[in-house]
Amino acid sequence: MEKEGLDAVINLIARRGIVAPSAQIYGEIGGFYDYGPIGLKIKKRIEAEWRRVFVEKMGNLEVETSIVSPRQVFEASGHLKTFSDPLTVCPKCGYSHRTDKVLEEYYSKKNDKVSLEKVKHSTIEELRSMLKSADVHCERCGAKLEGVEVFNLMLATKIGPLAGIEGYLRPETAQGIFLDFKNLYRIYGLKLPVGIAQSGKAFRNEISPRNFLIRMREFSQMELEYFFDPEESILEINGLPISDAVFEESIAFVSASGSEAKSIKLSALLKNGDIPNKLFAYLLYTEKKFLLGLGFEENTFRFRQISKEELPHYSKGNVDLEIKIGEKYEEASGLAYRTDYDLRNHELLSKEELHVVSGNKKLLPHVVELSIGLDRLFLALVSNSLYSDERGWEVLKLNEKTSPYDFAVFPLQKDDKLVEKAIHVRDMLLERGKSVFYSTSGSIGKRYARSDEIGVNKAITIDYTTLEDDTVTIRDMLTTKQERARISDIA
Ligand code: GAP
Repeated sequence: MEKEGLDAVINLIARRGIVAPSAQIYGEIGGFYDYGPIGLKIKKRIEAEWRRVFVEKMGNLEVETSIVSPRQVFEASGHLKTFSDPLTVCPKCGYSHRTDKVLEEYYSKKNDKVSLEKVKHSTIEELRSMLKSADVHCERCGAKLEGVEVFNLMLATKIGPLAGIEGYLRPETAQGIFLDFKNLYRIYGLKLPVGIAQSGKAFRNEISPRNFLIRMREFSQMELEYFFDPEESILEINGLPISDAVFEESIAFVSASGSEAKSIKLSALLKNGDIPNKLFAYLLYTEKKFLLGLGFEENTFRFRQISKEELPHYSKGNVDLEIKIGEKYEEASGLAYRTDYDLRNHELLSKEELHVVSGNKKLLPHVVELSIGLDRLFLALVSNSLYSDERGWEVLKLNEKTSPYDFAVFPLQKDDKLVEKAIHVRDMLLERGKSVFYSTSGSIGKRYARSDEIGVNKAITIDYTTLEDDTVTIRDMLTTKQERARISDIA
Protein backbone atom coordinates (compact mmCIF):
# COMPACT_ATOMS: atom_id res chain seq x y z
CA MET A 1 0.00 0.00 0.00
CA GLU A 2 1.18 3.53 -0.79
CA LYS A 3 0.88 6.27 1.81
CA GLU A 4 -1.03 9.29 0.53
CA GLY A 5 0.18 12.91 0.84
CA LEU A 6 -1.45 15.76 2.77
CA ASP A 7 -3.41 16.99 -0.29
CA ALA A 8 -5.13 13.63 -0.62
CA VAL A 9 -5.96 13.76 3.09
CA ILE A 10 -7.52 17.21 2.84
CA ASN A 11 -9.41 16.02 -0.26
CA LEU A 12 -10.83 13.01 1.56
CA ILE A 13 -11.74 15.14 4.57
CA ALA A 14 -13.68 17.54 2.33
CA ARG A 15 -15.27 14.83 0.14
CA ARG A 16 -16.58 12.82 3.08
CA GLY A 17 -17.60 15.86 5.17
CA ILE A 18 -15.19 14.74 7.89
CA VAL A 19 -14.32 18.33 8.85
CA ALA A 20 -15.49 21.53 7.12
CA PRO A 21 -15.11 25.28 7.67
CA SER A 22 -17.85 26.71 9.91
CA ALA A 23 -20.61 29.08 8.73
CA GLN A 24 -19.55 28.59 5.11
CA ILE A 25 -22.69 30.14 3.60
CA TYR A 26 -21.62 33.51 5.03
CA GLY A 27 -18.05 33.21 3.77
CA GLU A 28 -15.24 31.66 5.72
CA ILE A 29 -13.75 33.79 8.52
CA GLY A 30 -10.84 31.43 9.14
CA GLY A 31 -9.86 29.30 12.09
CA PHE A 32 -13.30 27.80 12.88
CA TYR A 33 -14.25 24.27 11.80
CA ASP A 34 -17.17 21.84 12.15
CA TYR A 35 -16.62 18.11 12.59
CA GLY A 36 -19.06 15.95 10.61
CA PRO A 37 -20.33 12.57 11.84
CA ILE A 38 -17.25 10.52 10.88
CA GLY A 39 -14.74 13.15 11.99
CA LEU A 40 -16.49 13.53 15.32
CA LYS A 41 -16.47 9.78 15.94
CA ILE A 42 -12.73 9.54 15.28
CA LYS A 43 -12.07 12.62 17.43
CA LYS A 44 -14.15 11.20 20.29
CA ARG A 45 -12.32 7.88 20.11
CA ILE A 46 -8.93 9.61 20.34
CA GLU A 47 -10.28 11.49 23.34
CA ALA A 48 -11.59 8.24 24.89
CA GLU A 49 -8.12 6.68 24.56
CA TRP A 50 -6.55 9.79 26.17
CA ARG A 51 -9.07 9.45 29.04
CA ARG A 52 -8.26 5.75 29.46
CA VAL A 53 -4.50 6.35 29.53
CA PHE A 54 -4.09 9.70 31.30
CA VAL A 55 -7.14 9.76 33.59
CA GLU A 56 -8.32 6.23 34.44
CA LYS A 57 -5.05 4.28 34.21
CA MET A 58 -3.04 6.93 36.07
CA GLY A 59 -5.73 7.23 38.75
CA ASN A 60 -6.29 10.93 38.02
CA LEU A 61 -9.47 13.02 38.17
CA GLU A 62 -11.25 14.75 35.31
CA VAL A 63 -13.26 17.97 35.51
CA GLU A 64 -15.19 20.26 33.18
CA THR A 65 -14.79 23.93 34.05
CA SER A 66 -16.33 26.99 32.43
CA ILE A 67 -15.07 28.39 29.14
CA VAL A 68 -15.65 32.06 30.03
CA SER A 69 -13.92 33.65 33.02
CA PRO A 70 -13.62 37.18 34.37
CA ARG A 71 -10.63 39.40 33.64
CA GLN A 72 -8.82 38.71 36.95
CA VAL A 73 -8.29 35.03 36.03
CA PHE A 74 -6.20 35.94 33.00
CA GLU A 75 -4.55 38.86 34.70
CA ALA A 76 -3.22 36.42 37.31
CA SER A 77 -2.32 33.75 34.74
CA GLY A 78 -0.28 36.31 32.79
CA HIS A 79 -2.23 35.79 29.56
CA LEU A 80 -3.48 39.38 29.32
CA LYS A 81 0.04 40.71 29.58
CA THR A 82 2.15 38.19 27.72
CA PHE A 83 0.02 35.96 25.53
CA SER A 84 0.66 37.71 22.25
CA ASP A 85 2.11 37.39 18.77
CA PRO A 86 3.87 39.92 16.54
CA LEU A 87 1.48 41.54 14.06
CA THR A 88 2.26 43.29 10.80
CA VAL A 89 -0.60 45.07 9.10
CA CYS A 90 -0.19 45.68 5.38
CA PRO A 91 0.28 49.47 4.92
CA LYS A 92 -1.69 49.35 1.64
CA CYS A 93 -4.67 46.98 2.06
CA GLY A 94 -4.77 46.48 5.85
CA TYR A 95 -4.43 42.67 5.69
CA SER A 96 -2.98 41.14 8.90
CA HIS A 97 0.14 38.99 8.91
CA ARG A 98 1.90 37.17 11.75
CA THR A 99 5.36 38.69 11.44
CA ASP A 100 7.40 35.70 12.64
CA LYS A 101 5.53 33.34 10.29
CA VAL A 102 5.98 35.50 7.16
CA LEU A 103 9.68 35.93 7.99
CA GLU A 104 10.07 32.19 8.55
CA GLU A 105 8.48 31.54 5.16
CA TYR A 106 10.78 34.10 3.54
CA TYR A 107 14.02 32.73 5.05
CA SER A 108 13.00 29.16 4.47
CA LYS A 109 12.48 29.89 0.72
CA LYS A 110 15.97 31.47 0.69
CA ASN A 111 17.31 28.47 2.61
CA ASP A 112 18.82 30.92 5.13
CA LYS A 113 18.92 28.64 8.18
CA VAL A 114 20.69 31.15 10.45
CA SER A 115 18.05 33.87 10.03
CA LEU A 116 15.31 31.25 10.18
CA GLU A 117 16.56 30.19 13.62
CA LYS A 118 17.01 33.83 14.68
CA VAL A 119 13.33 34.62 14.03
CA LYS A 120 12.35 32.13 16.75
CA HIS A 121 14.36 33.93 19.42
CA SER A 122 13.84 37.55 18.36
CA THR A 123 12.31 40.43 20.30
CA ILE A 124 9.75 42.74 18.68
CA GLU A 125 12.50 45.29 17.90
CA GLU A 126 14.64 42.62 16.25
CA LEU A 127 11.69 41.36 14.20
CA ARG A 128 11.00 44.95 13.12
CA SER A 129 14.51 45.42 11.80
CA MET A 130 14.56 41.96 10.16
CA LEU A 131 11.29 42.75 8.36
CA LYS A 132 12.67 46.10 7.24
CA SER A 133 15.68 44.55 5.56
CA ALA A 134 13.83 41.51 4.20
CA ASP A 135 11.84 41.69 1.00
CA VAL A 136 8.52 40.40 2.30
CA HIS A 137 5.28 41.29 0.54
CA CYS A 138 1.61 41.24 1.49
CA GLU A 139 0.06 37.92 0.48
CA ARG A 140 -3.10 39.73 -0.60
CA CYS A 141 -2.03 42.92 -2.44
CA GLY A 142 1.73 42.47 -2.88
CA ALA A 143 2.80 45.67 -1.03
CA LYS A 144 6.11 45.57 0.86
CA LEU A 145 5.51 44.78 4.55
CA GLU A 146 6.93 46.91 7.32
CA GLY A 147 6.29 47.60 11.01
CA VAL A 148 5.49 45.22 13.85
CA GLU A 149 3.18 45.56 16.84
CA VAL A 150 2.29 43.28 19.73
CA PHE A 151 -1.12 41.65 19.40
CA ASN A 152 -2.80 39.93 22.37
CA LEU A 153 -4.50 36.64 21.45
CA MET A 154 -7.23 36.63 24.09
CA LEU A 155 -10.84 36.62 22.81
CA ALA A 156 -12.85 39.08 24.88
CA THR A 157 -16.55 39.06 25.65
CA LYS A 158 -19.01 40.92 27.89
CA ILE A 159 -20.70 38.99 30.69
CA GLY A 160 -24.22 40.15 31.67
CA PRO A 161 -26.46 42.95 30.33
CA LEU A 162 -25.58 46.54 29.36
CA ALA A 163 -21.93 47.35 30.03
CA GLY A 164 -21.47 43.93 31.68
CA ILE A 165 -18.33 42.54 33.24
CA GLU A 166 -15.22 42.11 31.16
CA GLY A 167 -14.76 38.43 30.40
CA TYR A 168 -12.51 36.26 28.25
CA LEU A 169 -12.81 32.90 26.52
CA ARG A 170 -10.14 30.63 27.92
CA PRO A 171 -6.99 30.24 25.80
CA GLU A 172 -6.19 26.92 27.56
CA THR A 173 -8.35 24.60 29.66
CA ALA A 174 -5.73 24.61 32.43
CA GLN A 175 -6.79 27.74 34.36
CA GLY A 176 -10.11 26.23 35.48
CA ILE A 177 -8.15 23.33 36.99
CA PHE A 178 -5.90 25.70 38.98
CA LEU A 179 -8.94 27.64 40.24
CA ASP A 180 -10.70 24.44 41.40
CA PHE A 181 -7.63 22.64 42.74
CA LYS A 182 -7.84 23.66 46.40
CA ASN A 183 -11.53 22.69 46.68
CA LEU A 184 -11.02 19.37 44.90
CA TYR A 185 -8.06 18.60 47.15
CA ARG A 186 -10.15 19.22 50.26
CA ILE A 187 -13.48 17.68 49.21
CA TYR A 188 -11.99 14.55 47.65
CA GLY A 189 -9.32 14.12 50.34
CA LEU A 190 -6.60 14.07 47.68
CA LYS A 191 -2.93 13.37 48.32
CA LEU A 192 0.07 14.62 46.36
CA PRO A 193 1.09 13.73 43.75
CA VAL A 194 -2.21 13.85 41.88
CA GLY A 195 -3.33 14.76 38.39
CA ILE A 196 -6.42 16.69 37.37
CA ALA A 197 -7.40 16.54 33.73
CA GLN A 198 -9.73 18.40 31.43
CA SER A 199 -10.72 18.00 27.80
CA GLY A 200 -12.49 20.87 26.12
CA LYS A 201 -12.48 23.91 23.91
CA ALA A 202 -9.93 26.71 23.96
CA PHE A 203 -9.95 29.96 21.99
CA ARG A 204 -7.19 32.15 20.62
CA ASN A 205 -7.65 35.16 18.39
CA GLU A 206 -4.92 33.97 16.01
CA ILE A 207 -3.68 36.68 13.64
CA SER A 208 -3.61 34.43 10.62
CA PRO A 209 -5.24 31.05 11.23
CA ARG A 210 -4.00 28.62 8.60
CA ASN A 211 -2.93 25.13 7.68
CA PHE A 212 -6.39 23.76 8.31
CA LEU A 213 -6.52 22.25 11.83
CA ILE A 214 -2.99 23.36 12.74
CA ARG A 215 -3.64 26.99 13.66
CA MET A 216 -7.31 27.50 14.58
CA ARG A 217 -9.13 30.15 16.58
CA GLU A 218 -11.37 27.62 18.33
CA PHE A 219 -9.81 24.24 19.08
CA SER A 220 -9.88 21.34 21.52
CA GLN A 221 -7.26 20.54 24.12
CA MET A 222 -6.79 17.54 26.39
CA GLU A 223 -4.81 18.76 29.38
CA LEU A 224 -3.44 17.12 32.49
CA GLU A 225 -2.13 19.20 35.39
CA TYR A 226 -0.09 16.99 37.69
CA PHE A 227 0.37 18.51 41.16
CA PHE A 228 3.31 17.44 43.32
CA ASP A 229 5.60 18.43 46.18
CA PRO A 230 8.87 19.62 44.56
CA GLU A 231 10.84 18.49 47.60
CA GLU A 232 9.68 14.88 47.26
CA SER A 233 11.09 12.63 44.58
CA ILE A 234 8.14 11.17 42.65
CA LEU A 235 8.55 7.43 42.77
CA GLU A 236 4.94 6.40 42.67
CA ILE A 237 2.04 7.00 40.33
CA ASN A 238 -1.36 5.90 41.50
CA GLY A 239 0.21 4.29 44.59
CA LEU A 240 2.46 2.04 42.50
CA PRO A 241 6.21 2.48 41.96
CA ILE A 242 7.28 3.80 38.55
CA SER A 243 8.88 0.75 36.98
CA ASP A 244 12.53 0.77 35.84
CA ALA A 245 11.30 -0.02 32.32
CA VAL A 246 10.07 3.59 32.09
CA PHE A 247 13.59 5.02 32.45
CA GLU A 248 15.05 2.38 30.10
CA GLU A 249 12.70 3.51 27.31
CA SER A 250 14.26 5.53 24.47
CA ILE A 251 12.58 8.39 22.67
CA ALA A 252 13.50 10.32 19.52
CA PHE A 253 14.69 13.59 21.06
CA VAL A 254 15.75 16.89 19.47
CA SER A 255 17.73 18.90 22.01
CA ALA A 256 17.29 22.69 22.25
CA SER A 257 20.69 23.18 20.62
CA GLY A 258 20.24 20.56 17.89
CA SER A 259 18.10 20.06 14.83
CA GLU A 260 18.23 16.28 14.36
CA ALA A 261 16.38 13.76 16.50
CA LYS A 262 18.54 11.26 18.38
CA SER A 263 17.28 8.16 20.14
CA ILE A 264 18.01 8.63 23.83
CA LYS A 265 16.99 6.84 27.02
CA LEU A 266 14.79 8.71 29.47
CA SER A 267 17.30 7.89 32.23
CA ALA A 268 19.97 9.76 30.20
CA LEU A 269 17.72 12.80 29.74
CA LEU A 270 17.18 12.87 33.51
CA LYS A 271 20.87 12.47 34.22
CA ASN A 272 21.85 15.27 31.78
CA GLY A 273 19.27 17.61 33.31
CA ASP A 274 17.39 17.82 29.98
CA ILE A 275 14.17 17.03 31.84
CA PRO A 276 13.46 18.26 35.36
CA ASN A 277 12.17 15.19 37.19
CA LYS A 278 10.95 11.60 37.11
CA LEU A 279 7.37 12.67 36.56
CA PHE A 280 8.45 14.33 33.32
CA ALA A 281 10.10 11.06 32.27
CA TYR A 282 6.99 9.09 33.18
CA LEU A 283 4.75 11.39 31.14
CA LEU A 284 7.07 11.24 28.10
CA TYR A 285 7.02 7.45 28.35
CA THR A 286 3.23 7.38 28.65
CA GLU A 287 2.84 9.83 25.79
CA LYS A 288 4.94 7.61 23.54
CA LYS A 289 2.87 4.53 24.47
CA PHE A 290 -0.34 6.52 23.96
CA LEU A 291 0.74 7.43 20.40
CA LEU A 292 1.73 3.86 19.57
CA GLY A 293 -1.63 2.72 20.94
CA LEU A 294 -3.44 5.13 18.63
CA GLY A 295 -1.63 3.47 15.74
CA PHE A 296 1.19 5.96 14.99
CA GLU A 297 4.37 4.33 13.75
CA GLU A 298 7.42 5.16 15.83
CA ASN A 299 9.17 6.94 12.96
CA THR A 300 6.34 9.48 12.58
CA PHE A 301 6.93 11.41 15.81
CA ARG A 302 9.67 12.92 17.93
CA PHE A 303 10.08 15.07 21.03
CA ARG A 304 11.67 18.54 20.95
CA GLN A 305 13.24 20.36 23.86
CA ILE A 306 12.23 24.03 23.76
CA SER A 307 14.97 26.62 24.13
CA LYS A 308 14.80 29.09 27.04
CA GLU A 309 13.91 32.01 24.69
CA GLU A 310 10.94 30.11 23.25
CA LEU A 311 9.42 28.95 26.56
CA PRO A 312 5.85 30.04 27.34
CA HIS A 313 5.65 32.70 30.07
CA TYR A 314 4.66 30.16 32.76
CA SER A 315 7.18 27.44 32.01
CA LYS A 316 10.57 26.51 33.40
CA GLY A 317 11.10 23.75 30.84
CA ASN A 318 9.15 22.34 27.88
CA VAL A 319 9.37 19.27 25.73
CA ASP A 320 6.98 19.33 22.77
CA LEU A 321 5.73 16.35 20.83
CA GLU A 322 6.05 16.78 17.06
CA ILE A 323 4.25 14.53 14.60
CA LYS A 324 4.85 14.34 10.87
CA ILE A 325 1.91 15.77 8.96
CA GLY A 326 2.63 15.63 5.23
CA GLU A 327 6.28 16.63 4.83
CA LYS A 328 6.55 18.68 8.04
CA TYR A 329 6.80 17.95 11.72
CA GLU A 330 4.07 19.85 13.59
CA GLU A 331 3.79 20.43 17.33
CA ALA A 332 0.94 18.34 18.72
CA SER A 333 1.51 18.67 22.46
CA GLY A 334 3.55 20.44 25.10
CA LEU A 335 4.88 18.97 28.32
CA ALA A 336 5.71 21.88 30.61
CA TYR A 337 7.12 22.39 34.08
CA ARG A 338 4.76 25.16 35.25
CA THR A 339 6.17 25.14 38.82
CA ASP A 340 3.78 26.91 41.26
CA TYR A 341 3.47 29.85 38.82
CA ASP A 342 -0.32 29.65 38.41
CA LEU A 343 -1.36 28.81 41.98
CA ARG A 344 1.01 31.48 43.34
CA ASN A 345 -0.36 34.21 41.05
CA HIS A 346 -4.01 33.29 41.67
CA GLU A 347 -3.30 33.32 45.40
CA LEU A 348 -1.71 36.77 45.14
CA LEU A 349 -4.47 38.37 43.08
CA SER A 350 -7.52 36.71 44.68
CA LYS A 351 -6.06 36.88 48.23
CA GLU A 352 -7.51 33.38 48.79
CA GLU A 353 -5.04 30.99 50.30
CA LEU A 354 -4.35 28.18 47.80
CA HIS A 355 -1.73 26.33 49.85
CA VAL A 356 -2.65 22.74 50.75
CA VAL A 357 -1.51 20.42 53.52
CA SER A 358 0.56 17.43 52.46
CA GLY A 359 1.94 15.21 55.25
CA ASN A 360 2.95 17.68 57.92
CA LYS A 361 3.73 20.47 55.48
CA LYS A 362 1.73 23.36 54.06
CA LEU A 363 2.76 24.12 50.50
CA LEU A 364 1.87 25.39 47.07
CA PRO A 365 2.26 22.30 44.90
CA HIS A 366 4.29 22.45 41.71
CA VAL A 367 2.76 21.39 38.42
CA VAL A 368 3.89 19.45 35.39
CA GLU A 369 1.41 19.86 32.57
CA LEU A 370 0.78 17.68 29.54
CA SER A 371 -1.29 19.67 27.04
CA ILE A 372 -2.34 17.83 23.89
CA GLY A 373 -4.03 19.55 20.96
CA LEU A 374 -6.84 17.20 19.94
CA ASP A 375 -7.43 18.68 16.47
CA ARG A 376 -3.75 18.49 15.54
CA LEU A 377 -3.60 14.92 16.83
CA PHE A 378 -6.70 14.09 14.80
CA LEU A 379 -5.18 15.56 11.62
CA ALA A 380 -1.88 13.80 12.27
CA LEU A 381 -3.66 10.47 12.73
CA VAL A 382 -5.78 10.80 9.61
CA SER A 383 -2.84 11.97 7.51
CA ASN A 384 -0.63 9.11 8.73
CA SER A 385 -3.38 6.55 8.13
CA LEU A 386 -4.43 7.29 4.55
CA TYR A 387 -3.17 4.81 1.95
CA SER A 388 -4.13 3.88 -1.55
CA ASP A 389 -4.33 0.12 -1.93
CA GLU A 390 -3.52 -2.10 -4.88
CA ARG A 391 -7.04 -1.51 -6.31
CA GLY A 392 -6.35 2.25 -6.26
CA TRP A 393 -8.92 2.71 -3.45
CA GLU A 394 -8.19 5.13 -0.66
CA VAL A 395 -8.31 3.41 2.71
CA LEU A 396 -7.93 4.83 6.20
CA LYS A 397 -5.91 2.29 8.16
CA LEU A 398 -7.26 3.01 11.64
CA ASN A 399 -7.00 0.49 14.45
CA GLU A 400 -9.78 -0.73 16.72
CA LYS A 401 -9.15 2.17 19.14
CA THR A 402 -9.61 4.95 16.61
CA SER A 403 -11.82 3.46 13.90
CA PRO A 404 -15.09 5.46 13.75
CA TYR A 405 -17.13 2.24 13.93
CA ASP A 406 -16.38 -1.22 15.35
CA PHE A 407 -18.23 -2.93 12.47
CA ALA A 408 -19.87 -2.27 9.14
CA VAL A 409 -23.00 -4.38 8.55
CA PHE A 410 -24.28 -4.88 5.01
CA PRO A 411 -27.08 -7.01 3.60
CA LEU A 412 -25.70 -8.45 0.34
CA GLN A 413 -28.72 -7.09 -1.55
CA LYS A 414 -31.85 -5.06 -0.83
CA ASP A 415 -33.89 -8.19 -0.21
CA ASP A 416 -36.42 -7.95 2.64
CA LYS A 417 -35.21 -11.13 4.31
CA LEU A 418 -31.53 -10.11 4.13
CA VAL A 419 -32.33 -6.59 5.35
CA GLU A 420 -34.35 -7.96 8.28
CA LYS A 421 -31.49 -10.25 9.29
CA ALA A 422 -28.90 -7.46 8.83
CA ILE A 423 -30.92 -5.14 11.09
CA HIS A 424 -31.10 -7.94 13.67
CA VAL A 425 -27.27 -8.29 13.58
CA ARG A 426 -26.81 -4.51 13.75
CA ASP A 427 -29.12 -4.23 16.76
CA MET A 428 -27.43 -7.17 18.50
CA LEU A 429 -24.03 -5.46 18.11
CA LEU A 430 -25.44 -2.12 19.32
CA GLU A 431 -26.90 -3.92 22.37
CA ARG A 432 -23.40 -5.22 23.10
CA GLY A 433 -22.05 -1.67 23.12
CA LYS A 434 -20.45 -1.82 19.67
CA SER A 435 -20.84 0.92 17.09
CA VAL A 436 -22.08 0.00 13.64
CA PHE A 437 -21.93 1.54 10.16
CA TYR A 438 -25.03 0.18 8.42
CA SER A 439 -25.70 0.67 4.75
CA THR A 440 -27.90 -0.81 2.04
CA SER A 441 -27.17 1.65 -0.74
CA GLY A 442 -25.04 0.77 -3.74
CA SER A 443 -23.35 -2.50 -4.73
CA ILE A 444 -21.57 -4.48 -2.04
CA GLY A 445 -18.22 -3.49 -3.62
CA LYS A 446 -19.11 0.19 -3.36
CA ARG A 447 -20.15 -0.24 0.27
CA TYR A 448 -16.84 -1.95 1.08
CA ALA A 449 -15.02 0.93 -0.60
CA ARG A 450 -16.98 3.48 1.42
CA SER A 451 -16.34 1.74 4.74
CA ASP A 452 -12.63 1.27 3.89
CA GLU A 453 -12.38 4.95 3.09
CA ILE A 454 -13.64 5.95 6.54
CA GLY A 455 -11.50 3.38 8.35
CA VAL A 456 -13.96 0.66 9.45
CA ASN A 457 -11.89 -2.43 10.25
CA LYS A 458 -14.45 -5.19 9.94
CA ALA A 459 -17.33 -5.47 7.50
CA ILE A 460 -20.03 -8.09 8.09
CA THR A 461 -22.08 -9.24 5.11
CA ILE A 462 -25.43 -10.96 5.48
CA ASP A 463 -26.05 -13.29 2.53
CA TYR A 464 -28.41 -16.11 1.64
CA THR A 465 -26.31 -18.67 3.55
CA THR A 466 -26.85 -16.53 6.67
CA LEU A 467 -30.58 -17.20 6.41
CA GLU A 468 -29.87 -20.95 6.44
CA ASP A 469 -27.14 -21.37 9.07
CA ASP A 470 -26.75 -18.05 10.96
CA THR A 471 -23.21 -17.50 9.71
CA VAL A 472 -21.90 -14.29 8.12
CA THR A 473 -18.88 -13.19 6.11
CA ILE A 474 -16.47 -10.97 8.01
CA ARG A 475 -14.07 -9.02 5.83
CA ASP A 476 -10.94 -7.54 7.36
CA MET A 477 -10.27 -4.15 5.78
CA LEU A 478 -6.50 -4.21 6.28
CA THR A 479 -5.96 -7.66 4.68
CA THR A 480 -9.22 -7.80 2.63
CA LYS A 481 -9.39 -11.46 3.78
CA GLN A 482 -12.87 -12.85 4.32
CA GLU A 483 -13.89 -15.51 6.78
CA ARG A 484 -17.13 -17.17 7.77
CA ALA A 485 -18.24 -16.90 11.41
CA ARG A 486 -21.33 -17.67 13.48
CA ILE A 487 -23.36 -14.57 14.39
CA SER A 488 -23.29 -15.62 18.06
CA ASP A 489 -19.46 -15.63 17.98
CA ILE A 490 -19.03 -12.03 16.77
CA ALA A 491 -17.38 -10.09 19.57
N1 GAP B 1 -1.87 24.84 28.64
C1 GAP B 1 -0.70 24.89 27.85
C2 GAP B 1 -0.95 25.24 26.45
O1 GAP B 1 -2.04 25.65 26.08
P1 GAP B 1 0.18 25.37 24.11
O2 GAP B 1 1.47 24.82 23.63
O3 GAP B 1 -0.12 26.79 23.85
O4 GAP B 1 0.13 25.05 25.66
C3 GAP B 1 -1.02 23.11 23.70
O5 GAP B 1 -0.99 24.49 23.50
C4 GAP B 1 -1.43 22.40 22.43
O6 GAP B 1 -2.67 22.94 21.96
C5 GAP B 1 -0.46 22.60 21.28
O7 GAP B 1 0.61 21.68 21.34
C6 GAP B 1 -1.35 22.37 20.08
O8 GAP B 1 -1.48 20.98 19.81
C7 GAP B 1 -2.68 22.90 20.54
N2 GAP B 1 -2.88 24.26 20.00
C8 GAP B 1 -2.38 25.41 20.47
N3 GAP B 1 -2.78 26.45 19.71
C9 GAP B 1 -3.54 25.93 18.73
C10 GAP B 1 -4.25 26.50 17.63
N4 GAP B 1 -4.26 27.81 17.39
N5 GAP B 1 -4.93 25.66 16.80
C11 GAP B 1 -4.95 24.33 17.02
N6 GAP B 1 -4.30 23.75 18.05
C12 GAP B 1 -3.61 24.53 18.90
